[in-house]
Amino acid sequence: MVGPTDLRELTQKLSLDLVEIEEPAGNSRLSLTTLRDLDATIDQIFEELTRLQKPELLDQLCPYFGVIWPSARALAEVVDHALIPGLQQTVGTQIIELGCGLAMPSLVAARKGAQVYATDFHPQVERFLKINREKNRADSLKYVEWDWRTLPELPSTLQSAWGKADWVIASDVLYDRDLPVPLARAMAQAVTTKGRITLTDPGRPYLQLFCDELTKNEGFRMTTKVMRVKHPRKDHPEHTQDIFVLDFRR
Ligand SMILES: C[S@@+](CC[C@H](N)C(=O)[O-])C[C@H]1O[C@@H](n2cnc3c(N)ncnc32)[C@H](O)[C@@H]1O
Repeated sequence: MVGPTDLRELTQKLSLDLVEIEEPAGNSRLSLTTLRDLDATIDQIFEELTRLQKPELLDQLCPYFGVIWPSARALAEVVDHALIPGLQQTVGTQIIELGCGLAMPSLVAARKGAQVYATDFHPQVERFLKINREKNRADSLKYVEWDWRTLPELPSTLQSAWGKADWVIASDVLYDRDLPVPLARAMAQAVTTKGRITLTDPGRPYLQLFCDELTKNEGFRMTTKVMRVKHPRKDHPEHTQDIFVLDFRR
């Protein structure tokens, strides 16, 4: 296993092809710097790692963080509708996002005045968040690099917020077998007794494991709805994708 410092050094050597986009987020819009093309970037990273004789690092460095996934669009819309700028409840609201990637929902929440911690384990996420936080004046957003599978270890920067979050959120983070159970446990620990957990997901095979952990083992009640959002591929015949919005409360 290669440590975080080596990974950061490796990723800093890569020159990534970026693009500026405007994204609707509920009733507002965000300006975002993203990867131009996810598949091309994966190929580029794989080539670079092969040249460095470290192709086995592709799993750790796969740049899934760098584009907006449809589930993030759905979650950003949920957050946008739930938070009213300037209202005392919003200004005091503590939010933690796990596996944030470009952190569209966190940017929306921070811009409305919520106190937000966005977290992800990829060493390149911080660089993108710095740019996008500034562009969107989302000053109350703090970033913490963290892999939720390392619980009970918690970075010191997250300790003061842990167990005190009113709302813990994540979008499209259940793509591997080892992710859902520790994610559900982390979200259950991070939220207050009266708090809310929201996950948006395109219907990945491991979704049920996540729901079972929260409802059967952590004592949460679940409600679900489906939202239709823009599909990422412009050439996709349907142009839209249905996303599950799962809400959990104790
Ligand atoms: C498919 S992307 C989704 C990104 C963003 N949430 C969205 O919907 O646009 C999955 C994200 O989860 C992050 N991730 C995956 N496993 C993680 C873990 N164990 N701890 C922290 N972040 C993780 C990845 O780095 C990536 O940013």
